[in-house]
Formats: sequence, C-alpha cells, structure tokens
Amino acid sequence: MGATILVADDDRAIRMVLNQALARLGHDVRMTGNAATLWRWVADGEGDLVITDVIMPDENGLDLIPRIKKLRPELRVIVMSAQSTLLTAVKATERGAFEYLPKPFDLRELVSLVERALSAPTSAPAPNPDEPDEQLPLIGRSPAMQEIYRAIARLMGTDLTVMITGESGTGKELVARALHDFGKRRSGPFVAINMAAIPRELIESELFGHERGAFTGATARSMGRFEQAKGGTLFLDEIGDMPAEAQTRLLRVLQEGEYTAVGGRAPIRVDVRIIAATHRDLPQLIRQGLFREDLFYRLNVAPVRLPPLREHSADIPALVRHFTSLAAREGLPLKTIDEAAMERLRRYRWPGNVRELENMVRRLAALYSQEVIGLDVIDVELAEAPPPAVLPAEAAGGEGLAAAVERHITDYFAAHRGCSASTAIRCARRSANWTSRSSAA
Ligand SMILES: Nc1ncnc2c1ncn2[C@@H]1O[C@H](COP(=O)(O)OP(=O)(O)OP(=O)(O)O)[C@@H](O)[C@H]1O
Ligand SMILES: [Mg+2]
Repeated sequence: MGATILVADDDRAIRMVLNQALARLGHDVRMTGNAATLWRWVADGEGDLVITDVIMPDENGLDLIPRIKKLRPELRVIVMSAQSTLLTAVKATERGAFEYLPKPFDLRELVSLVERALSAPTSAPAPNPDEPDEQLPLIGRSPAMQEIYRAIARLMGTDLTVMITGESGTGKELVARALHDFGKRRSGPFVAINMAAIPRELIESELFGHERGAFTGATARSMGRFEQAKGGTLFLDEIGDMPAEAQTRLLRVLQEGEYTAVGGRAPIRVDVRIIAATHRDLPQLIRQGLFREDLFYRLNVAPVRLPPLREHSADIPALVRHFTSLAAREGLPLKTIDEAAMERLRRYRWPGNVRELENMVRRLAALYSQEVIGLDVIDVELAEAPPPAVLPAEAAGGEGLAAAVERHITDYFAAHRGCSASTAIRCARRSANWTSRSSAA
C-alpha cells in the first residue's frame, strides 16, 4: 500500500521528477511550490512524509520544521537544498529533519531515503533549543563541501569515532572542531594532540599522563590528554605519524575502554569522543607495515574525506571573500580581487590547498597598496609560490611529473613576459610595485 507524500519545491522540474519517481513506487504524491500550502496540508493531518525545499517564495522550509514537529512529531521531513551551507545541514538536522539531501541528488538515493523514512520505526527526536552561531566555520557551497556538511550533520548526534583524511591544508582540523562544536559533547573540552610534533618517547605520557617518578624527569604527576578531554573530544592529529609502540597502546585502550597513566596502577575509564586525522595514505602505511591495520579499523568507523581545493575550485571566490574580510577584521586593509585575477585563482592548482589560499590573501592585504587586486599581482604571487615540495598525491592518476613541471614553467613565464628567467622575479616585483604606486596615486 502506497503512502501519501507531500512535496514542496518552487522548482517545477524538481516536482515533476519527484512525482514520477515516487508515483512509480505506488505512492500518492501531492505537490506544491510554496510553504503555506505545505503547512495547510500538514495542519489538516494529511501526508505520511514531507519532502521540502529550503528557499521557497513565501517561507524558508527549515523554519517550517519545528512547527511540523510540534504539531505532528511522527511526521518525517526530508529537506533538499541547492544553496546549502554547513548551517543548512546542521539546522535541518537539529530541527528534526529525518534527512538532509543536497541538490543535485541522485534519484536512486532519494528513493531509498523515502523508503527508509517510511519504514523506520519512529522515536521522538530530542529537540535542540540552542541555535548554532550564524558565523560559519566552514566556507563553500560546492557539491564537494555539501557532502562534508552532510557528513558533519549526520555525525553530530553520535559519539562515533571519525577519521578525517585529506591533503595538507584542506581543513581537517576545522572539520574536527565543527564536529565537536555542533556535537553532543560541545559543552566539554576539545583537546588536540599532534602525533608528529611530540618526541616518540613522550607520546604515551602525553596521551595518558604519568605518575610522579614514573621516569627520569617526571617530578610531578601529570594529566594526559585523555584526561584533559574528559567529557569532550580528543583530536588525534597526524595519526599516521604515531610510532608503533604508541599505536599498540592506543589500540588496547580503545578496545578496553580504559587506561592507566604511565607508572600508575588504577585504571581510568575512557570518556572521550575520538576524532583522528591524517594527510597520509593509511592503507599504504598499513601495506608497508608502518600502521596497525587493527587500529585503522578501530579509528576508521566514520571516514570523512576532505577534497583538495582544486576539486572544488568553485568555492575559491567565497573563500577569498571570507579571508579578505577576516584580514580586514584583524586591521589589514580591505581588498577586492578583480574578475580576471579571480579567474586566475580559480585555475591555479593550490598544492597547499585552503591554507595556501588563506596565506596568499593575507599577503595581498598586507603587501600591496592598491585596493583592487588585478591579474598582474596574482601572476607575480603565484609565480613566486614555491612549487610543492612533494609532488601532488594524484601524480599517479592525474597529471604526470613532466606535465606538472611544464605547467609550472608556462605559468611562470606567462607571469613574467618580457623578463629573462634570471631576472624575472625582480622584474615582476618591480612591475607590481609600480602598479601599486600608480594606482595609489
Ligand atoms: N572550508 C573552509 N572554510 C574556511 N576556512 C577553511 C576551510 N578549509 C580550511 N580552512 C582554513 O585553512 C587553514 C588550514 O586548515 P586546517 O588547519 O584545518 O587544515 P589541515 O587539513 O588540518 O592541514 P594539515 O594537514 O596541514 O594539518 C585554516 O586556517 C582553516 O581555517
Ligand atoms: Mg591539521
């Protein structure tokens, strides 16, 4: 027996597609292009499931959810949105949406979601009164970022261990913080420990603490990060750099749910949510015998893969605006980037990802006097950016070494037309200074 599904979306094409797909499954579909009609149907007790868009001409679909939930707590709501930010995903989930689906979506995905929504047993969702801050920690509305927001929104109600992977500078730490800040343990501490930054012989005592006299130099009892993070989140950064003995110890702690301080006896219960991150290829480290496979499976419960910036270059203008206004808030002059310059930024491959972009924007704000940054300046800046020390990880699949070198050289000379290779940098600096002086005059 089919269900009655209420669909609200101001895009007629989407309504038609949904109608076809859902009617084929034997459901009765009712469609509207505005929120008011949807609300009337819900208030009249109609429908077994709601599928709604966010931005509609009369009202925001997200604002409707709390009202729907209040009136009919058992009625499930699926939210679809094209223009979504992390906040859309988080709000939808917090307000009690059953699922949040970024557009464009795969119809098969929607269909299986609808089936799940109609068959899953209902349990009253916990209402969440406090709204997240309007200040977004993560910028970008590309499909790749929306997948990340969706993952964060899904994980925020859980204590699952998360493994964040991605190249250097892609925002792994930022995502770890967002998971904490929007998660169940947000009132507890967020404690980060970087495995690559601690001498290997100190890692265990850093993680689990030590008793006085546990080893030479341990003059007082010290609290480990597990204890500091009690009730909150422990972020194990650069987990791929963890030495073998520490891996073994960590695995045992995760298996047993308790630990003892170095030199201590009394077992202490683990009360942290673990988020791990690495820019390394863990499966490869496992094959090389450098990372424990069993630890990997313990940590990789909910994997989140952050895309390199070149895979979501559509977000570059928004990121640039975000970083210029951050720089301005810190007292640097506010800059705008003209269209040609922005296009160049979008086409660049950003081996250092968002961090490299952020640093460049700061540099532009600090070093150039002109208010509007043009292509000439960007060309100079990009030409001076050091080539990546390690070849991009995709070298095997994507661009080969020769092509990468050739592209770099071409970009370099394109930026310094009329200058010989040996004087190019000075020459380009001169022309940039000249531009800045001339436009400041
Ligand atoms: N989507 C984003 N929106 C806004 N800022 C971002 C975004 N992604 C990254 N950043 C910023 O870029 C910088 C690098 O991010 P972060 O330190 O989280 O990267 P990471 O993946 O942990 O890098 P690494 O592997 O080098 O430790 C930070 O200043 C962060 O705030
Ligand atoms: Mg990091």
